[in-house]
Amino acid sequence: MLGYEYSFHSLISVSYSQVLGGKKKTNSLNLSPVSVRRFNSFSLLKNKPIVDNVPSETDATWHEYTCPGGSKNLSINIRLLPKEVSFDSIFGFNNTGNVCIWPSEEVLAYYCLKHSNMFSGKRICELGGGMTCLAGICVAAASNATHVQLTDGNENSVKNVHHIVKHNRARNIFGNTDIHARCLRWGTDLDSCKHLEKFDYILSADCLFFEEGRMDLIDTIDFLLKPGGEALVFAPTRKNSFNEFLQLASSVFFCSVVEKYDDVVWKSHLEMLSQSSGVYEKDLHYPMLLLLQKTEAPTE
Ligand SMILES: C[S@@+](CC[C@H](N)C(=O)[O-])C[C@H]1O[C@@H](n2cnc3c(N)ncnc32)[C@H](O)[C@@H]1O
Repeated sequence: MLGYEYSFHSLISVSYSQVLGGKKKTNSLNLSPVSVRRFNSFSLLKNKPIVDNVPSETDATWHEYTCPGGSKNLSINIRLLPKEVSFDSIFGFNNTGNVCIWPSEEVLAYYCLKHSNMFSGKRICELGGGMTCLAGICVAAASNATHVQLTDGNENSVKNVHHIVKHNRARNIFGNTDIHARCLRWGTDLDSCKHLEKFDYILSADCLFFEEGRMDLIDTIDFLLKPGGEALVFAPTRKNSFNEFLQLASSVFFCSVVEKYDDVVWKSHLEMLSQSSGVYEKDLHYPMLLLLQKTEAPTE
């Protein structure tokens, strides 16, 4: 799992200089030398590369994810896109979900695994799940949810999620849970979701940074949730972006913010804070849990 501090500005400006400066003549860019490698994981899930047994039609790589100490014998195979991204993709739709699995997604996945009973008999939708939708995949693998819908607005992310679903379906890890992946852009794609049955839970990790998308994300959650349903949103406070989202969301949902939602995550957070390297910063890296509850429709 790789971690990068994300800043579109620095990615794009350095990429520009790579290309315009003639250092890179290909139409793809390797992000590793230009991105600042920072905190990348709370080490809640174990992952090891799968070296054989999996089709490798590109330089995407497969990894087995397990949850040490988890109640179920979970083994999920996850396909990760290469670090090298095409020049086009940087200027196409938001590409941040194809860079790595961000710590908020890892924490969301871990939280869902620990609380998998709450999903029994329910319909779940993940929004902005990136190239893996790891949390939604974990829900489908570890719970008795009836339906899991995995979504992101980036078509390359969704293609990758299709690979993951197909591969793990063939491994028979989803039991009776119906699982699908599709491209869903907040706000703009709601018309195409009219036919979808509403969801009991929405999951979302690290999707609050984009100022222009916040109200669309809120509208999408509101549109997709059943009355009485709940969204579990994990994200760092990151430069007030969390608070700005919370302010907007408070006009639509009953909101609660939980800082200490899990002892293991909190312990790992405190350990990392105490390390003197300064790589880990609470504001940038510690995922807060925001619960958005949609009130029941008033009875006539
Ligand atoms: C920082 S990434 C997080 C991905 C993943 N949840 C994780 O934490 O690893 C933000 C994700 O939001 C998606 N996104 C951003 N704006 C969106 C929009 N308007 N509609 C749908 N998805 C969007 C991006 O494609 C990206 O996958």
